[in-house]
Amino acid sequence: MYNIVTREDLTSEIHLFEVAAPEVAKKAQAGQFVVIRVDETGERIPLTIADWNRERGTVTVVAMEVGKTTRKLATVKEGGAIANFAGPLGRPTHVDNFGTVVCVAGGFAIATIVPIARAMKEAGNKVISVMGFRCRELVFWEDRLRDVSDELLVTTDDGSYGRKGVVTIPLKELLESGESINRVIAIGPTVMMKFTSLTTQPYGVDTIVSLNPIMVDGTGMCGVCRASIGGETKFTCVDGPDFDGHQVDWDELMARQRTYLVEEKRSLEEWEPSRARR
Ligand SMILES: Cc1cc2nc3c(=O)[nH]c(=O)nc-3n(C[C@H](O)[C@H](O)[C@H](O)COP(=O)(O)OP(=O)(O)OC[C@H]3O[C@@H](n4cnc5c(N)ncnc54)[C@H](O)[C@@H]3O)c2cc1C
Ligand code: FES
Repeated sequence: MYNIVTREDLTSEIHLFEVAAPEVAKKAQAGQFVVIRVDETGERIPLTIADWNRERGTVTVVAMEVGKTTRKLATVKEGGAIANFAGPLGRPTHVDNFGTVVCVAGGFAIATIVPIARAMKEAGNKVISVMGFRCRELVFWEDRLRDVSDELLVTTDDGSYGRKGVVTIPLKELLESGESINRVIAIGPTVMMKFTSLTTQPYGVDTIVSLNPIMVDGTGMCGVCRASIGGETKFTCVDGPDFDGHQVDWDELMARQRTYLVEEKRSLEEWEPSRARR
C-alpha cells in the first residue's frame, strides 16, 4: 500500500496527493507518469508526476474528477492509502537550452507543467507560461507557475479572471509579436493541445504535446495507447507521452478516447451510490 502523506483540494474537483513512494521518487523526472490503482479491485489509471521530493521519498500527483476511478481516488483522505503506484513511466520531457519556451497548460495540467517550466528555466531558457481555466473558481497554482516563469498570462473562458478566452489567443499574439519563440509545450485537454498545435503550425515553431490516450499497463504490452504520429503507429506510454504536436492524428486520438464512453458511464452510475457511504 502507498500512503497519502498530504492531500490538498486545489479546487472542488482537482485534488493533490503527495504519496510515499521512495522508489518512484528516486528516479522521477519532469514529463513522466505513474499508473495507479486506488484499491485491489480498481482499474489502472495513468497520472502525470507533478512533483517529487527525493529526501522525503514522496511523489505528488494531481487528479481531476472525471469518472469512477478519479472520483474514487478523491474519497481517499490524508493518512489513507492506495493499492498501487507504479512508475516512473514514459520518457521524460526533453529539456535543453532552446532559447524562449512557451509553456501552455489548461485545467489539471497546470500542476504537471510546473516541473517542466522549472526544468526549462534551470536549463537557461526564457519561459513564458500561459494558463487557461474555465472560470475563476478553478484557478490554482498561479503563484507556483509564476515562480518558474519569466512571464505568466492567465485566461478564463468566461473572463471572470485574467484575459477572457482560450489559451490560443495570447499564444497567437506572442507568435505575432516578433519575439523569437523556439519551442511551445502544451499539456491539457486533447482539444486544447490540438488547437495549440494548429496555432503554432503556420509559424513553424516546434510544438511538443503530452498525449493522454486510454492506457492500461503503461509499459508497452497491451497496445491500447496506440496513436498515429506522422503516419506511424506509436505506443504513447513507451514512445511518449511527449510527441510533435504537428504530427499527431488528433481526430483518431479523440475517437479512440471515446471508445468506452457507454461502459464508463455505466460504471460510474453503478458506483456513485456507494460514494455517499464512504
Ligand atoms: C500519460 C497520462 C497522464 C495523465 N495525467 C493525468 C493527471 O495528471 N491528472 C488527471 O487528472 N488526469 C490525467 N490523465 C487522464 C486520466 O488518466 C483519466 O482522466 C482517468 O483515467 C479517467 O478515469 P475515470 O475512471 O475517472 O474516468 P472514466 O469515466 O473511466 O473516463 C473518462 C475519460 O477519461 C479517459 N480515460 C478513461 N480511462 C482511462 C485510462 N485508463 N487511461 C487514460 N485515460 C482514460 C477517457 O478518455 C474517458 O472517456 C492522464 C492520462 C494519461 C494517458
Ligand atoms: S498502455 Fe499498454 S501499451 Fe501503452
